[in-house]
Amino acid sequence: MWNHPGMNLQQAADAVTVLLAGQIPRLQAWYTALAADARFRVAMQATDPQDLNSKLVTNPDVLLLDATIYPGPQPLLETLTRYHGAAYVLLPLEASREAMDSIAQVPCVKGVYKGDLNLVAIAGEMYAAAQAQRQARMSAGMEALWNRPQSGMGAGGAPLGLRVVAVWNQAGGVGKTTLASNLAYEAARRGLPTLLVGLGAPDDLPLILGLKPEPNLNHWRANPTAEGLKLALQKVDTLDVLAGFPDVLSEARAMNTPLDAPESVPKLVLTAAYMGYAVIVLDAPPTALASAALAAANTLVLVARPSLEGVMRTVEAYRTVVERLAGEHHIPAAGVYVALNRTGARMGADEWHKAASTLLGRPFPPVAAQIPDEPRVGEAQDARKLPLNASDTFARSLKPLADALFSTQGAAAGVPQNGSGKKTFEIFGVRVKV
Ligand SMILES: Nc1ncnc2c1ncn2[C@@H]1O[C@H](COP(=O)(O)OP(=O)(O)O)[C@@H](O)[C@H]1O
Ligand SMILES: [Mg+2]
Repeated sequence: MWNHPGMNLQQAADAVTVLLAGQIPRLQAWYTALAADARFRVAMQATDPQDLNSKLVTNPDVLLLDATIYPGPQPLLETLTRYHGAAYVLLPLEASREAMDSIAQVPCVKGVYKGDLNLVAIAGEMYAAAQAQRQARMSAGMEALWNRPQSGMGAGGAPLGLRVVAVWNQAGGVGKTTLASNLAYEAARRGLPTLLVGLGAPDDLPLILGLKPEPNLNHWRANPTAEGLKLALQKVDTLDVLAGFPDVLSEARAMNTPLDAPESVPKLVLTAAYMGYAVIVLDAPPTALASAALAAANTLVLVARPSLEGVMRTVEAYRTVVERLAGEHHIPAAGVYVALNRTGARMGADEWHKAASTLLGRPFPPVAAQIPDEPRVGEAQDARKLPLNASDTFARSLKPLADALFSTQGAAAGVPQNGSGKKTFEIFGVRVKV
């Protein structure tokens, strides 16, 4: 992540949750040591095996366990095999070599100690192990979506090819919200179940789409489930819209949300994918929250001004994604599209692309659309109408990008319909009607 002026966002987002288990004096000593370390948050404590088993269900990042609360190695092994975080186990001095070895072999066990352990000395390792596990969990969830097995196909046999499109640039006012909303509307118009998510603060989507400021992202965050998402949606014809933040305060709270928290943007996208959306468009903001949107996306539309300044800002944005955020998202090189917005007398697409490639030092992703400066765009938005419906020029210029993004799903759009006129999709073997 980058660019968090004024707050140690990284630290807040990364606090590792710890479950302490052991006898009370030991718990007190461990608690005191960890309370002084901002990287950790002691979420729970347990003083007997049964208590521990019930609390492990919440899956804390780290389990710090004093095994003297167990009568012997066997029940201890049973507990540990059920846990999937990072466990550090302190055995009594009299524990045998064999017991120590068998405990060390349980996959969750990252460290086994005898007699005593130096918490300060192993804190760094505990933190790193927890972070690595979070990253792996996150990737596993995302990977399962992006690389759906063959069974995850539309009823017509065409791959659903879930598209999670982040429309973004670090620059403001370039047309991100305009393109995100019109692309999403176009995907929905083509028959794809589509969700548009606003992430601005205060968000422009309600304003330009003729929606109410509520419900919005805050409602989803208060109830981050499929049901909660349904309740937070508004509709523009066939397009589902989740409006962004009503104010900067709620945006700031969202910036402090860990990427794997239930109310995070990646989890929102996962929830929406399970609900059966084929296209999810994120109007990614120029703020630090963009990293959460990018982490959830598999496609990036870079909106650029057709000027030298536009080249510089867009190359910078591209570098941010492919270099600085490498490993934190699932956007392949071929998943990046450039949309030149408000073209006219200034730079042409070829000239723009050449300049961008020169600045980058290798070929820049191609210009997928050139959208003219069209007064009817602003007029339509002021009248709370879709520019796509108000201007043929605008609609025509957006089409190549919409084709590139949504045409692999053209076949999915032709999925046979059932009697009620609803489309049925199959996701992870579950049939979903939309
Ligand atoms: N192709 C276009 N032609 C004319 N005006 C445009 C065009 N694209 C965007 N605009 C106008 O530019 C302003 C900023 O666009 P917006 O989509 O809100 O940018 P961003 O989300 O990047 O801040 C809006 O008033 C919008 O109406
Ligand atoms: Mg915007």
